[in-house]
Amino acid sequence: MARRGCFITLEGLDGAGKSTHAGWMADWLRGAGVDLLETREPGGTPLGEQLRELVLHQAMELRTETLLMFAARNEHWRTRILPALERGQWVLCDRYTDASFAYQGGGRELGAPAIRVLEDWVQQGQGPDCTFLFDVPLETARARLMQGRAAADRFEQEGAAFFERTRQAYHARAAEDPTRFRLIDARRSIPDIRTGLEAALRDLLRAYGTAAVSGETRGRA
Ligand code: ADP
Ligand code: TYD
Repeated sequence: MARRGCFITLEGLDGAGKSTHAGWMADWLRGAGVDLLETREPGGTPLGEQLRELVLHQAMELRTETLLMFAARNEHWRTRILPALERGQWVLCDRYTDASFAYQGGGRELGAPAIRVLEDWVQQGQGPDCTFLFDVPLETARARLMQGRAAADRFEQEGAAFFERTRQAYHARAAEDPTRFRLIDARRSIPDIRTGLEAALRDLLRAYGTAAVSGETRGRA
């Protein structure tokens, strides 16, 4: 079945500000009449949330970690995201496969080719339509993370070199697909960032039209 909704993902280092903007973006889209599924990775399904607990807190070998990210993603993609897009819903997902390229491929130095194999196997050439990459220097991300955060998970405990590699891998991925990626200078104030996000969301509404959003076409083959 054809996809009719728009698949939007949010990416960036821990502390870049994704979660701060995710709720606002979801409210804005719903206010514009979009029927939206708001979700996250790792997670997004009951099984995916159990896998999330494991990968964030349990020590494991790198390939195991990568496979669990993709196990959670496969469940999420096939049982929730793809059916939603086919029904005409839009999907806003906090992190997706670009995070595997950045964290496992870059940060943990597995490299992009192994991630690409899993991406192809699970997603079969499909993926997000638009990805907002919240880009901040490492020090800014670290400083923000320190404000009001609970105990750090296995990724947040990593050192500066890990996050520099992660950020570089995000940039490399964005350079491969400049049409899909929108780079957000997330050093700016929250209202400034919102102004840019709102303009980008308006573009998406124009590009995807209101047919997919109004609900009137839902149920059509
Ligand atoms: P992420 O989801 O990317 O890990 P969060 O959205 O949780 O990041 O933001 C981390 C912290 O930084 C939060 O305390 C948040 O209020 C703050 N923050 C987010 N964006 C900005 C910004 N543009 N300027 C200043 N502080 C910010
Ligand atoms: P998330 O809950 O988005 O963290 P935060 O809100 O702190 O930004 O993601 C949890 C961690 O999982 C994050 O450190 C990045 C990591 N991660 C990967 O390493 N690979 C992946 O494929 C995904 C989706 C996340």
